[in-house]
Amino acid sequence: MENHIHPTVFKVSRKQRQSRLKQSPKLIWFTGLSGSGKSTVANAVESQLFEYGYMTYLLDGDNIRTGLNKDLGFSDEDRIENIRRIAEVAKLMMDAGLLVVSAFISPFRDERKMVADLVGEENFLEVFVDCPIEVCEQRDVKGLYAKARKGIIKNFTGIDSPYEAPIKPAVHIHSDKEELTSSVQKVIQTISASISH
Ligand code: PPS
Repeated sequence: MENHIHPTVFKVSRKQRQSRLKQSPKLIWFTGLSGSGKSTVANAVESQLFEYGYMTYLLDGDNIRTGLNKDLGFSDEDRIENIRRIAEVAKLMMDAGLLVVSAFISPFRDERKMVADLVGEENFLEVFVDCPIEVCEQRDVKGLYAKARKGIIKNFTGIDSPYEAPIKPAVHIHSDKEELTSSVQKVIQTISASISH
């Protein structure tokens, strides 16, 4: 369908912005159950990269859902739209030259693949923060699992909404067994060769 939209060609290219920042934009995509530790590891990874002197930005579930995506809920359809918008935002940030770190449950394989396709597979690093649901439920930092079990929260991931674990993540973290520092190191080691230029 013709939509009469004609995008402008910018005078400053992505490559030009990139050369000024002296870094190769990447999207480091954390996925995992609620309470698995995604935000904690993602935060620590961003902080480490920032300390090394890279320009970074962290996109995180609860933050985006109180702003940009506050109109979305947790039906499959809304989760798909949530991830689609986040992927577009991440792409813009990468156009600006940033190393983007994100932490979303992103429960569906197809949507994570959509994100990788949008930003370019070579720029996408999937990090699976793996933690048995029993452990997440025991931690229940926000008290959400208890509410989901009582039926107060519907469509809760892992309870009455699915989570499709990555098949071949670039980094596999077992947050119930590993120290935070070693999880962070695993991610940094995996990307270090490809982020500087
Ligand atoms: S998704 O599935 O990727 O669209 O979810 P995301 O944007 O990452 O948001 C997850 C956070 O929302 C809170 N929350 C819920 N999570 C899962 N299912 C339901 N029904 C739900 N309702 C609220 C919860 O705090 C999640 O944060 P994390 O950091 O994952 O615990």
